[in-house]
Amino acid sequence: MRFKDKVVIVTGGGGKIGKAYALAFAKEGAKLSLPDLVSADPVVKAIQDQGGTAMSVECDVSNEASVKAMVDATAKRYGGVDILINNAAYFMTVKKSPFWEMDVAEFDKAMAVNVRGVWLCAKAVFPYMKQRGKGKIVNISSGVALNGNPNYIHYVTSKGAVISMTRAMARELGDFNICVNTVAPGFTLTEGRQVDPEYERKRNEQRCFKRSQVEQDIVGTVLFLASSDSDFTTGQLLVVDGGTHLL
Ligand SMILES: NC(=O)c1ccc[n+]([C@@H]2O[C@H](COP(=O)([O-])OP(=O)(O)OC[C@H]3O[C@@H](n4cnc5c(N)ncnc54)[C@H](O)[C@@H]3O)[C@@H](O)[C@H]2O)c1
Repeated sequence: MRFKDKVVIVTGGGGKIGKAYALAFAKEGAKLSLPDLVSADPVVKAIQDQGGTAMSVECDVSNEASVKAMVDATAKRYGGVDILINNAAYFMTVKKSPFWEMDVAEFDKAMAVNVRGVWLCAKAVFPYMKQRGKGKIVNISSGVALNGNPNYIHYVTSKGAVISMTRAMARELGDFNICVNTVAPGFTLTEGRQVDPEYERKRNEQRCFKRSQVEQDIVGTVLFLASSDSDFTTGQLLVVDGGTHLL
């Protein structure tokens, strides 16, 4: 019960990996707020079914007013904010193309959600964490930022920005006893995700652990960085990809 009565916001909590984080936090006693563009009600129900506490909030992380309303509603309901997991991303539905053919609107959408959204959520929780005298922010990047995968320059660049933003935030938030770290998961075979089996086999060959990565593989690292076990760790990047990238 490392998170007993801790207030945890998991953005994109209605999505696949966000759900896995949320269920794990709830199991350890946290009170969850799950902002998403889509309804996180099924995740809230799953948490309540296991005896936990959760709320879903309609929110667009790229919109400052929407983010502020979400954080204020969370604090009002639970009495504060302790932990933010910046997990929401324009990801599954990104349009892929060579960078010289990509539309400006498509590029800007990835930046608005994946970069501005991370900043806006941190900005909105800061006063509440300051009030508490401590806090934890975990920003979710991706292995693509290390690999430079072709044909989605906007997504790759946005996830690289998350790593740099984490470092800048860590420097600014140290005096407030707030830890900020990045987790970069590898390609994750989330529930129901369709992949070319041959491509997945080749991807697995590049790992130290030669198997597909699933949601649960990332959960422990995110919870560690959100817990008091990592209180002297900040500004760091932890890559969770079964050993594809060895930094
Ligand atoms: N699945 C992978 O292979 C993988 C690998 C590396 C990193 N990641 C990262 O992990 C995180 C979760 O990915 P996932 O696989 O669960 O994807 P997902 O699409 O299931 O979850 C992302 C969630 O973010 C929400 N979202 C999108 N735009 C939003 C906005 N403007 N405001 C609020 N919510 C918004 C979506 O509705 C969705 O529920 C993302 O940050 C993704 O970039 C995923």
